[in-house]
Amino acid sequence: MIDVSALPKAELHVHIEGTFEPEQIFEIAARNGVALKYASVEALRDAYHFSDLQSFLDLYYAAMNVLRTERDFEELTLAYLRRAQAQGVKHAEIFFDPQAHLQRGIAFDVVIDGLWSALQRSARDFGITTKLIMCFLRDLTADSAMQTLDLALPYQERIVAVGLDSAERDNPPSKFAEVFGRARASGFLTVAHAGEEGPPEYVWSALDDLKVSRVDHGVRSLEDPRLVERLRDTRMPLTVCPLSNVRLRVVPTLAEHPLKRMLDAGLVATVNSDDPAYFGGYVSDNYAQTAQALRLTGADLATLARNSFEASFIGAAEKAAFIAQVEAAGDATSKEAPAV
Ligand code: ADE
Ligand code: ZN
Repeated sequence: MIDVSALPKAELHVHIEGTFEPEQIFEIAARNGVALKYASVEALRDAYHFSDLQSFLDLYYAAMNVLRTERDFEELTLAYLRRAQAQGVKHAEIFFDPQAHLQRGIAFDVVIDGLWSALQRSARDFGITTKLIMCFLRDLTADSAMQTLDLALPYQERIVAVGLDSAERDNPPSKFAEVFGRARASGFLTVAHAGEEGPPEYVWSALDDLKVSRVDHGVRSLEDPRLVERLRDTRMPLTVCPLSNVRLRVVPTLAEHPLKRMLDAGLVATVNSDDPAYFGGYVSDNYAQTAQALRLTGADLATLARNSFEASFIGAAEKAAFIAQVEAAGDATSKEAPAV
């Protein structure tokens, strides 16, 4: 039996606003004098039943309305880092959604300075190195994304990549080809959510129109054998989020999740938590529950942990050092037996 939380891992797909736990929502709402439409933490948690991505996004955007000050964003991030440390996370690449805050009148620098003051302490206080990825909301216009990119340019040293999230249906990556072109020309790496609810064509578009370095989710890629070949041959990483996929009804149950098929097809799949406060688990919980449901072996889990570092945006020497830590942890356990 493997203790998955002891396995060193990188988390590459986590929305900081999706780590906002109900207790902290109530605490910060009270401090800021923001009224909530739920009477208690329990009543809020009871509302976490989603029929699809949009039904989740409605609640996700409503909850983040209580975040107002730099301190709020700093505390949100510190709370995530504390939990990630307990889950064996050694490196985290964290999404944030500035447009969701700008729309509410919260300035870009309030958000990024709050996140940054927590991240600056992360390696020392939590043993977690970090990078930030700024996402554009794909259900807003390309013009709005372009204006947001302008706001980010002075903070380029703090942001490694731009990404694309929010409602995928009818918002193909191609809509943002020009913004992503400008972001790449300015030195940002690029990633995009694609093939979560959207079809394989959106994954093709993320690769060809946005020139992404990773595909976020990408689970629907398996519907297109030519796409699987392209992803495998280019070792394009996919940041898979199993508990999210079940909660948002992208897949019916964890036992039917395609993660094992993705690994067997030679894809560079990684396991991540997406919006852990809403989906019932942080990254180790995703590893453990998926391992149980799909009968993953110790070797599969070690592959996932190794992939997480390989797919990260850190340098080659740092990758090698982390992967050596994975091997050392893996050597202590049986590789062929079911892991959990
Ligand atoms: N924003 C936060 N979580 C998301 C998800 N799973 N898909 C798209 N946008 C998101
Ligand atoms: Zn996501």
